[in-house]
Amino acid sequence: MDRLSAEKRIGELRDSLREHSRRYYVDNAPLISDYDFDRLMLELQELEAQYPDLQTSDSPTVTVGSDIEGGVRSGFERKAHTYPMLSLGNTYNIAEVEEFADRAAKTLDGDFCYSCELKFDGTAISLTYRNGLLVQALTRGDGSVGDDVTANVRHIPNIPQKLAGSGYPAEFEIRGEVLMPYKSFDRLNEERLGREEEPFANPRNAASGSLKLIDPIETGKRGLWCTLYHIPAQCIDCRTHSEALDRAASWGLPVSEHRRICRNLKEIEDFINYWDTERKHLPYATDGIVIKVNETAAQMALGYTAKFPRWAVAYKFRAERALTKLLSISYQVGRTGAVTPVANLEPVLLSGTTVRRATLNNADQMALLDIHMGDYVYVEKGGEIIPKITAVEPGKRTEGALRPEFPKCCPECGTPLVREEDEARWFCPNSSGCPTQIKGRILHFTGRKAMNILAGDATIDQLYSLGLVKTPADFYSLTRDDLLRLDGWKDKSADRFLKSLAATREVPYERVLFALGIRHVGETTAKTIVKEYADVDSLAQASVESLTAIADVGDIVARSIYGFFRDEENLREIARLKAAGLRFSAGAAAQQASDALEGMSIVISGNFGISRDEMKKLIERNGGKNSSSVSSKTSLLLAGSKPGPEKIRKAEELGVRVISEEEFLALLPQAPQAGNAEADEEEGYQEDLFGGMV
Ligand code: IVH
Repeated sequence: MDRLSAEKRIGELRDSLREHSRRYYVDNAPLISDYDFDRLMLELQELEAQYPDLQTSDSPTVTVGSDIEGGVRSGFERKAHTYPMLSLGNTYNIAEVEEFADRAAKTLDGDFCYSCELKFDGTAISLTYRNGLLVQALTRGDGSVGDDVTANVRHIPNIPQKLAGSGYPAEFEIRGEVLMPYKSFDRLNEERLGREEEPFANPRNAASGSLKLIDPIETGKRGLWCTLYHIPAQCIDCRTHSEALDRAASWGLPVSEHRRICRNLKEIEDFINYWDTERKHLPYATDGIVIKVNETAAQMALGYTAKFPRWAVAYKFRAERALTKLLSISYQVGRTGAVTPVANLEPVLLSGTTVRRATLNNADQMALLDIHMGDYVYVEKGGEIIPKITAVEPGKRTEGALRPEFPKCCPECGTPLVREEDEARWFCPNSSGCPTQIKGRILHFTGRKAMNILAGDATIDQLYSLGLVKTPADFYSLTRDDLLRLDGWKDKSADRFLKSLAATREVPYERVLFALGIRHVGETTAKTIVKEYADVDSLAQASVESLTAIADVGDIVARSIYGFFRDEENLREIARLKAAGLRFSAGAAAQQASDALEGMSIVISGNFGISRDEMKKLIERNGGKNSSSVSSKTSLLLAGSKPGPEKIRKAEELGVRVISEEEFLALLPQAPQAGNAEADEEEGYQEDLFGGMV
């Protein structure tokens, strides 16, 4: 490439890398895969090597990606790192690992070995312990200055506040990764989808976003986890890195057990190959293997570049992706009116499942991908549940292919779409007249986590088309004869439905509030609100200011609630639901039933006579605490039908008592009658996203 073109390309690459870096570290919403990012970086590195005089000290090739928002206060105090927090050089194949090993061997004389470890896909953290007590936690920030997130980190359960054992340095730093295990990630995204909010793209973004919440209690609720992998050599007197980690583990610090000392390339390769498949069984995301020269003296001799240590390298696993053809794009309208572009694809096999549809998120994303009709596109799943399109293959584009046009009007009702400031999505504003939104709201109301009424998509469709149900309150005027008009409905189905409808009068207020479908009010927010406003009338009177005073209720949520109660139609609907006998205040049902389970930490697994949610509530109402994984602190594992074999094994291993539903109910003073509730499997997002909800 000639100098002029190189200069132009370098400028483009730097801009693009800076923008993608901001999307990744600050917005927690990356637009391209790590692999594509690294390739752009490599291209820039090569050009800068070719034209060294074009190198600048602020080029992305020599600066560490920053998680600090440019110029905007993040709400955290900035603190300087005592030792810079660097990144790692990336490799994608064994040949590049070999080059790394050769370079190390050339500099070092004498024997050395490697510590091979998992590369955890979370967000970096640096902890400081003084006299055995946790005194500070900083994010990586820009590598020299990070955000002080100590208060939040104190709510991550496996980070000790106080060290165990003895022999730790009076003061030292230890670094690692804050992770969001898949389980917590799934739960969080389910809640977000329930609120029609953009789900987190992957557990890494979710971990980073959760670590930086303003309210530490909320961080505590996100189910974060930490694993530690590096003590700066200046902090501890150890001959090897692996010994330093072993010592850290002996002080009760969470250090990964999945490490191995490797003596040669063959052993490194075996470790990589083993984890390339085995990592799929880990409960958290990993994106590669880190290979570190193990001897401290050898590390010192190799030293650092401005960005990386020369004694370590990351071998990154390629996210599984598949190339397939874009057949068409559907624009799905959700219950809040948000319009989501969904790509219909030529079916393709990806990580064991056939993918036919993938999300394109929003109009901005479509523009960034520069997608054209009929393009060949890359689909990825990675840690994500919803498959997404991460890139297009322009080389395979047919001539004259057109860019898709995002609709100007609602594809369901024809109303012109609107896009509010700061919203990435377009909305259909016709909330009271757009059939898809109406049906979406009814479906949300009937949902298992809302009112749990036995009416799915098809039933609601029919009830709506027959003009029998236009709003949730209409359910309560349905007669048996009305129901018998539905296709295939007989006495038995009508009975089941009416029984589930009658049961909604027992549903606690917090779930009723969630069922109303106020934008941005998901299950968790509804619970929080009910603690502050115990009945709907006081909530309807609340000002935006008093709503924002509730922890975890921001301006957007507060305005949405305020606006909801200023709409006459919503008030009429609430009055009708009240008249139908639904609970609009936190009454006796929400109160403690007994203290039979006081102090117990209980894990449930499998299906029960009542729904899993009801079971969890029952535990809470009797003084117990729910926990999602079995540990030595677990008091009971309550096993229903088809319990998870891994949980049972763990409980047996740790000597945790496993009891049946029957035995459990016998522990309670007022056990509910176990009925024949539907099997209560976890709902998949894919089903949520593509099953008509969004
Ligand atoms: S060692 C001085 N070990 O990957 C080098 N880093 O892409 C210290 N990471 O910034 C890092 N797993 O946040 C190290 N086992 C591991 C890791 C690991 C994940 C992260 C770390 C680093 C990033 C580079």
